[in-house]
Amino acid sequence: MPRKKLVAGNWKMNTTLAEARALAAAVAAGTTPASADVAVCPPFPWLLPVAEVLRGSVVALGAQNCHPQKSGAYTGEVSTGMLLEAGCKYVIVGHSERRHGLGETDPFLNEKAKAALSAGLHVIFCVGELLAEREANQTEAVLDRQATQGLRDLPADRLGNLVVAYEPVWAIGTGKVATPEQAQDAHAFIRKKVGVILGENVARSLPILYGGSVTADSAAGLFDRPDVDGGLVGGASLKADSFLKIIQAAG
Ligand code: PGA
Repeated sequence: MPRKKLVAGNWKMNTTLAEARALAAAVAAGTTPASADVAVCPPFPWLLPVAEVLRGSVVALGAQNCHPQKSGAYTGEVSTGMLLEAGCKYVIVGHSERRHGLGETDPFLNEKAKAALSAGLHVIFCVGELLAEREANQTEAVLDRQATQGLRDLPADRLGNLVVAYEPVWAIGTGKVATPEQAQDAHAFIRKKVGVILGENVARSLPILYGGSVTADSAAGLFDRPDVDGGLVGGASLKADSFLKIIQAAG
């Protein structure tokens, strides 16, 4: 079966409550069951009001982060159970802004992925190299390490809920999108690696999203590549018209 495309909007730390509601409503209005799968990932405080707006639509709700523990003394953190109760289907794990900006490590991200899948969430697990790593021909070594350490020991019965996002750090928020060939090469490498780590069947059906300066103009070229199964979109997901164009490009 061909893999269905997924387009997820990562709103990061953006939008007022009014903007979040309006954006979610516009995305819901422009999306049909025939569209690619679509998710939006608002900031934590807007999850419940956005869930309300999305009710009855085909747009899924996602969170941008979670903590591996179920509850307890973890000030400022949010558990996977809370996300589920708030209506989330997806959670982003391992975004580069948390890996590099906040020091989250491969083993910690592995704990998060395990906890979120076990709880019943779909995980969008991000990997990607820094510019210096690409220039030093380290891209595959970095993807290998992030996948091997991040995707180990995942619950076998939940692997159908795993999504990987290839997000080269040099392309995120920079306007420098990877070429379709660069994305395809990295995605094919990740799929091969996942085959080794989680098995061929999982690898074959795994959606691998591209993220990093995706726009309405660059989306179709990227999504046309055989191993690019959609996008994780930051900046261009904050305007309904550009996000809807990207969804259309995913078919
Ligand atoms: P960008 O962000 O589309 O603004 O580059 C993508 C992401 O960080 O997920």
